Amino acid sequence: MVSDPDIDNAVAILRRGGLVAFPTETVYGLGADARNPEALGRLYAAKGRPAGHPVIVHLADVSQLAQWARELPPAAVRLAARFWPGPLTLILPRAPAVSDAVTGGQDTVGLRIPSHPVAHALLTKFGSGVAAPSANRFGRVSATTAQHVKQEFGDAIDLVLEGGPSEIGIESTIVAVTGERPVLLRPGHIPAREIEQAAGVPLGAPDTGSPRAPGTLAAHYAPQTPLIVMEGDLLLELAASLTRQGKRVAVLAHGTLQPLFSGLTWIVAPPDAPVYAHDLYANLRALDAAECDAILVEKLPQQPEWDAVNDRLGRAAAGSSPTST
Ligand code: TXA
Ligand code: MG
Repeated sequence: MVSDPDIDNAVAILRRGGLVAFPTETVYGLGADARNPEALGRLYAAKGRPAGHPVIVHLADVSQLAQWARELPPAAVRLAARFWPGPLTLILPRAPAVSDAVTGGQDTVGLRIPSHPVAHALLTKFGSGVAAPSANRFGRVSATTAQHVKQEFGDAIDLVLEGGPSEIGIESTIVAVTGERPVLLRPGHIPAREIEQAAGVPLGAPDTGSPRAPGTLAAHYAPQTPLIVMEGDLLLELAASLTRQGKRVAVLAHGTLQPLFSGLTWIVAPPDAPVYAHDLYANLRALDAAECDAILVEKLPQQPEWDAVNDRLGRAAAGSSPTST
């Protein structure tokens, strides 16, 4: 996988303001020195991300927290103790030295301590915060392998650290702990009820004005091919009608749905929510690569364990629709 010299090389690149993609247990991140505004500028440019959107700062361990957050509310301490290192991002009141390029000019900062051994080795050796959005072009499907990162960015970044396929496959659960109650900003692998239990207080409702989060924009995580989510029987009807019109159709099926006629690009996704999530972005990339006219995704159960996947599919559908911006 990755050797000590690879980590040393990655650290040297970060120190001179370069961009290093690295594996985490959720998805691959595209990293830059979070204290270096020029490196952050390069990061935004490579992603094609509009300015003013905040990025998550990744840390090696909790001893670094005070440099980034000016306050650790009790609920944040409990959540950190329970879920770090791991797939949780906490939005906390920012420390004075944190740059606007990281926070998008907000009074908060997003922090995460990932558990992937390569990420941990990189962050430990670097010794400071690494700003890292998901390693995909803005609005597009996140990357869960080093190969996907290379397909996204080619030579536009300095190094990709290999860490195998991401264990979880979708982005971290984001919880803002800035007011009386923690607020779930982005569902993820850690279910809302576990966040609530660990925090020891009920979750509050999101404030519609702020904080801003592109991962919570209606359109995001989208393949290039238009994507539609629908019930299995309707999906087959639509697939048949499109095929009759000479269109090429890709399907992400789930459960027992069968391709009743030939000519469809057909992937059967795993039945359990965590495994479905694990494969989701690789499946979307594979269906996108088939260059069909539409990707039809079989609708999933509307139950809490499917929240994170339903959230991503809903935004992928909005992001690929011809009417979205
Ligand atoms: O699993 C993950 O979280 C991955 C890995 C690489 O750690 N990262 C990731 O980053 O998904 P990104 O930039 O694609 O999504 C981070 C989300 C964005 O929606 C961003 O707006 C939000 O976190 N965010 C970051 N800082 C914030 C802040 N201070 N207030 C509100 N939202 C914030
Ligand atoms: Mg992202």
